[in-house]
Amino acid sequence: MTPLLRLVIVGHVDHGKSTLIGRLFHDSGKLPEGKLEQLKAAAERRGMEFEWANLMDGLQAERDQNVTIDTAQIWFRTPKREAVIIDAPGHKEFLKNMVTGAASADAALLVVAADEGVQEQTRRHASLLTLLGLRQVAVVVNKMDSAGFTQAAFDKVRQDCSAFFAKLGLEPRAFIPISARHGDNVVSPSTKMPWHSGPTLLESLDTFSVPAPPEGRPLRFPVQDVYRFDDRRIIVGRIESGTLRVGDRLLFSPRDKTSVVKTIERWPTHDGKAVTAGMSVGITLAEQIYVERGQVGSHEEHPPIETDVFDAKVFWLGKDALEVGRPYTLKLATQDVECRVQSIEKIVDPVALTETPGGGSVPRDAIAEVSLRTRTHIALDDSALSPATGRFVLAKDGLILGGGIVSPCRYPDRRSALAGIKSRNLSWTEGKVGRKDREGRNRHRGTVLWMTGLSGSGKSAIGVELERELFRMGLHTYFLDGDNVRHGLSSNLGFSPEDRAENIRRTGEVAKLFLDSGAVVITAFISPYRDDRQLARSIVPEGDFVEIFLDCPLEVCETRDTKGLYRKARSGEIRDFTGISAPYERPEKPEITLRTDRQSIAESVAQVIDYLKSRVLKPSA
Ligand code: ADX
Repeated sequence: MTPLLRLVIVGHVDHGKSTLIGRLFHDSGKLPEGKLEQLKAAAERRGMEFEWANLMDGLQAERDQNVTIDTAQIWFRTPKREAVIIDAPGHKEFLKNMVTGAASADAALLVVAADEGVQEQTRRHASLLTLLGLRQVAVVVNKMDSAGFTQAAFDKVRQDCSAFFAKLGLEPRAFIPISARHGDNVVSPSTKMPWHSGPTLLESLDTFSVPAPPEGRPLRFPVQDVYRFDDRRIIVGRIESGTLRVGDRLLFSPRDKTSVVKTIERWPTHDGKAVTAGMSVGITLAEQIYVERGQVGSHEEHPPIETDVFDAKVFWLGKDALEVGRPYTLKLATQDVECRVQSIEKIVDPVALTETPGGGSVPRDAIAEVSLRTRTHIALDDSALSPATGRFVLAKDGLILGGGIVSPCRYPDRRSALAGIKSRNLSWTEGKVGRKDREGRNRHRGTVLWMTGLSGSGKSAIGVELERELFRMGLHTYFLDGDNVRHGLSSNLGFSPEDRAENIRRTGEVAKLFLDSGAVVITAFISPYRDDRQLARSIVPEGDFVEIFLDCPLEVCETRDTKGLYRKARSGEIRDFTGISAPYERPEKPEITLRTDRQSIAESVAQVIDYLKSRVLKPSA
């Protein structure tokens, strides 16, 4: 069976989208027998001329009285297959529906009136299609009757559109001159435009392809609901991509609990063994774990990104500007979570396609590159890899104000840390000598001094001096320097967010062991991501983690350029360099802040020792 084509029709409000739909619906033979005459007679009775554009309104009125035609989904046939227009034009929710993914289309028709040509809204809609990743587009040049059916009028629109689309990096599949009102080139070829040798609109739809359901892709099963029947819990949702089988171990993100699929419940017919992309199902699990709406089920080998900070492209429809720091509700798949814009990198005018540097806000109808921070962790994907878990909307007080897509991940996620939890059935061996015994003999407590800051902020320089000073004072101390750890323990890691997360996790674990040996552990790692530092903190026993922020402006670090790395980063020789091509997230509440642009190394060392005096110099009770 040829798959169904899901089509969306966009374009300026007066350029004839409704007329086109009415015409298409009628001429392709889907309008019930006698219906047109009935609507024409009704218009006449009201003393009005029948307009194709009103056909849908007429049907909508009937629908409101419970007659059967659904105007939100308009079905028709092309020579080769069934097609459906997934949203009525002029629908206020149109743009919003486009991003919710519920209305994700395979292809788009952009309607432009020949007499008015490309307008602001034409450009805006074209930009939006590109943002959403819709690459199959045909341009329908309508109202050719008002332009005398001349080729010159058609060519003008064609040129304007081509130029704009070229800037967007998109090439329309076809340009079709039509008159929706008179039916020229919609379903049957026009006799009035012999110069047009291309397809009719209906034929052009058969040049679009419909992607196969993403069955072979990683599993994404966003949980819609959990129903209780007796003592059984049925987890319900739609398989957005991939395949789910009885016996699979599923990971539910965020929170990363796993369990094995015991049964698949699907009605009406189903072999009970496997379900694939596009199906809505209920499943039960072998071990009861806590699962709730919003979580995403996946296979452990291919989990979604789990994070509370990510980059995105958004377009903003709100009357009030989108502002840095203000709370909005982010809705992604079935997750709802409070979020704030952390920074705005760039703003693009979707009409002029000009770019301006970001600032504190995004005006209405603009597209922006932003980074977003959610209040809790959520599961998501790069939208290019998984649209269903890579698109979202932003809302406030229940109103949808904008939409967006998740950009490729520049931030760390917990996948690598998760992938590391491969060992099960282990227990911790208690020694006969404990931390307290060691601290008692050392006559001081252990602690972890975690230095974070940009490259060149002075971490290593302060670390070596601090270590010498503590040693001189008779303390058991050890300095874990970032570069040194990367020579051995972390020599298989680079500087991607995932690798940095793993580097910090390893170091946190090593620091914990040193702490258990009773030492004052000093670490010097850029550790640019808040989440990673938080993870390190959570590895170490509570109260033993002292975060020391070496606060030094980037300009100063760059001028120092002790290792010559900033120069290399600027020239592009080093990628993902913190401060230049990768972010540094300042600590929010460090225990100690050292202003290393203003104070000497000795002063910084003294400040840390001062802090330690009351805390570590007496053994714990
Ligand atoms: S961290 O991000 O994982 O905490 P870490 O502190 O271990 O980084 O390593 C940083 C050191 O690696 C820097 O002092 C610098 O010498 C070197 N380095 C090499 N490439 C990069 C890079 N892309 N970004 C930051 N540091 C880099």
